[in-house]
Parts: sequence; structure tokens; C-alpha cells
Amino acid sequence: MARILITGGAGFIGSHTCVVLIEAGHDLLVFDSYINSSPIALKRVCKITGISAIEVNQRIQIIKGDISNKSNLDEIFKKAKEEKREIQAVIHFAGLKSVNESIKRPLAYWDTNVNGTANLLLTMESYECKRFIFSSSATIYGKPKSIPIVETEKINPINPYGNTKATVEKILLDLSRSDAEWCIASLRYFNPVGAHPSGLIGEDPNGEPNNLFPIVSKVAIGHKDILEVFGGDWPTKDKTCIRDYIHVMDLAEGHLEALNYLLRKKSEFLTLNLGSGKGHSVLEVVKSFEDTIGEKINYKIVGRRPGDTAKTIADPTQAKKILGWETRRTILDMCSDSWAWQTANPNGYKTGTT
Ligand code: UFG
Repeated sequence: MARILITGGAGFIGSHTCVVLIEAGHDLLVFDSYINSSPIALKRVCKITGISAIEVNQRIQIIKGDISNKSNLDEIFKKAKEEKREIQAVIHFAGLKSVNESIKRPLAYWDTNVNGTANLLLTMESYECKRFIFSSSATIYGKPKSIPIVETEKINPINPYGNTKATVEKILLDLSRSDAEWCIASLRYFNPVGAHPSGLIGEDPNGEPNNLFPIVSKVAIGHKDILEVFGGDWPTKDKTCIRDYIHVMDLAEGHLEALNYLLRKKSEFLTLNLGSGKGHSVLEVVKSFEDTIGEKINYKIVGRRPGDTAKTIADPTQAKKILGWETRRTILDMCSDSWAWQTANPNGYKTGTT
């Protein structure tokens, strides 16, 4: 079992990955600024995994800090070295993730996502920690030429957020070419949704949500009047957009497999799609949600959203071949787990305690 640093570990994907890694026996150092996350998520991680107050520092050490601050990062590696409990790998979730916001604040996105990642890689290099898993995104494919999307598809991002993710992938490729000791996996997520089945952790967007699942949940619980379906004239079977939704627990398990794979390697550079290989239209998601809650979701078809594409579906063959990983959960699991989280935490972590 290994000691792993998780940046952004209190966030949506980070917190679910912490659960899966702890359950698999790894010890974690979780580093988070809480700019877009809550420390309550980590208390809930301990609750789900049954970590007692005595075990807490051994199994999950929690550190508040920012990847923009190099001395924060240096402190972590220095302390781990002094304790002779060196960090064997880093899973890097920390970063800004809203496409819309990235168009308005590109400098903040380049600074956090690119400079912050460079700070982390420089610190890792100076402590000879050379195993790295990066949160990349299917957004780097832009408007792909063929569906399902294979990893060799042209990288052609169409917004600043995607540009920062594609740039980090280039940095990682340069790094692996410069020094064969690096073992790197860049994981390109499709549309992560759902929640831990306990309903204790889930997605808690800052401010108004932009993504489909949180919005459908808000309409279902009555916090929002209506879902606006962006476009009813797409070239798809029911004329609404198709996406490859992936349950966050499947995604978390993908990280565990990638980590265990890199821990066995001496040299590696992987770029892998993490998706289900299945597409669901917006109206199919609405229908699955209605089936889950037993009530109608109020929606109306409006104009297309700028920047959307008709269809995005992963070809997940490589992840299956290399990691032996594939998704297990269905769209109904995604809806029912989202709903369990939403109903148990109508205001996200804001009114929660432990
Ligand atoms: N949609 C609506 N109404 C809404 C919100 C979304 O109809 O109110 C539709 C969108 O048009 C799209 C689908 O629901 O067809 C999914 O939209 P999301 O905003 O949930 O997700 P995107 O596919 O636009 O993007 C997401 C993440 C990105 C990530 C990308 C990876 O937001 O960060 O998946 O493919 F890069």
C-alpha cells in the first residue's frame, strides 16, 4: 500500500476518489484550498470509510493550502521526507473547472491550472516523486471528427478551460520525454455525475449550477422552476444533445486502477479516456430522473447553448485494455445516487456538519 498526495481532494471527484483509495488500503495526504469545496466533505469521507479519530492522521492527513503557493507544496514533501513516510504518487484534481467562467477569467484559469500544476511538478521533481495522475477532460477534443472518440483524435480545445488542460498534457509529454523515470497518466473524463450511494458526499457547485445533473436535481427538489433544454434541433435521435455520463464512483475506481498500474511501473506515459462508451440524450436523462423520483420534471426546449456539440461519446477500449477498468453503473444509478445526495443535502455542504 502506498502514501498518496491528493490535491483538490475535498472536491467532487477528489472526495469520491479518497473513499475508494482508503477502502483499497492506501494512506492519503489531502491538500485543498476549499475555494470551491468544503472541509465537511472530508469528514464525510472518514465517516464512509469508518476512519476513527485515532487513525485519522495515519490514514488521511488533511492540509489546507493552495497549489499557487509553492512553499505550501514544499512543506508537504519536506515533512513527509522527515517522517520517512515519503509520498509515492500524486493525484492532481486541484484546479478551476467552469467552461463559462474560464471565458470571462482566462488569466485565473491559466494561472491556477497551468502555473499551479507546474509548481506541483517542480516540487515533485525536487523530491524525486515521479508518479503523477492528472485530471484531464474530454473537453480537449473540442468538436471531434469521429464518435466514439479515441485518444488519438485531434486535440482541439475551444475554450480557455480546455486550453489549460491541453497545455498541461503537453507539459506532461515533454516531461516524460525528458526523464524516463516519470510514470504519468492523464485521464480524460467525460461527463462525471452521480454521488456516493450513501448520500453523504456529492457534487456541490459554487453559486448557480451550469451542468445538467445538478440543474435537474434542483428542479426536482423545487429550488429551480424549470430546466431549459438547450436545443431541440440537434442531429440526434430525439433532437437533444448526447453525452457520455460517467458515475463518479466508476471514475474514482478508474483512478485507483490507474494508480495501482503506475505503482507497478518504472516508466510510463498514458493518456486514457474515462467514459462509459454509451450516450444519453438530455431528454433521456430527464426521463431517467423522472423514473427515479416518480414525478415529472418541468422542462422546456430553448435555443442552443453556444459552444455545445451534438454528441460526445468516449471510446473506453484503451482503459479496459491497459487498466482492466470499465464502468459498471447505469444511468439510473447515476440518477438515484444524485437524488439521494440532493434530498439528504438540499443545500449541499452549506448547512451540513459532519
Ligand atoms: N444542458 C441543458 N440544460 C442545462 C444544462 C445542460 O440542456 O441547463 C445540456 C447541454 O446542452 C449538454 C448536456 O446537457 O448537451 C450536458 O451539459 P453539461 O453542462 O452538464 O456538460 P457539458 O457536456 O457541457 O460539459 C461537461 C463539463 C465540462 C467538461 C465536459 C467533458 O461541464 O467541464 O463535460 O466533456 F469538460
